Amino acid sequence: MRIAVYPGSFDPITNGHRDIIERASRVFDKVVVGVLRNKSKKPKFTAEERVSFIQLVTGHLDNVEVAAFDGLLVDFAKAHGASVIIKGLRTVNDFEYEFQMALLNKALDSECETMFMMTNSQYSYISSSMVNELAGYKGDLSGLVPAEIIEYIKEKYK
Ligand code: PNS
Repeated sequence: MRIAVYPGSFDPITNGHRDIIERASRVFDKVVVGVLRNKSKKPKFTAEERVSFIQLVTGHLDNVEVAAFDGLLVDFAKAHGASVIIKGLRTVNDFEYEFQMALLNKALDSECETMFMMTNSQYSYISSSMVNELAGYKGDLSGLVPAEIIEYIKEKYK
């Protein structure tokens, strides 16, 4: 069985993230979305909130699981029997950092392959930090994040 992990902060999940999860779920037998707890980054949403948002918007995908993690990504992947890490690339700006991370993860675990998926062009400008900034200004989030979570985000910024 081909299992992949798709890691991130998902603070919160965007339409770009959801698109990658949907596409990866068609390529792999199982996709485990790994939500980094990331206390140092001071996420806007708790790990539990971020996990439940992803569960809510991927409920239609039978082969997708969501779990929070601490520690190294390669350890999380191994614990879930995954040999592939999926990363989404939006622009060339993402590439340098992701290339470095892929090499580092390969050095930490030589059996772990990183595979990149290009974002769909209509999502290439979306990031969680932009979503948070816009939400702070009470901007319109439709089209940026899945409709099912918009009210929860608004509530957080009330
Ligand atoms: O959505 P993000 O914040 O860009 O995701 C970053 C993430 C979670 C993929 C990255 O921070 C990560 O893998 N963190 C886990 C710790 C780890 O394994 N770091 C690399 C070796 S130091």
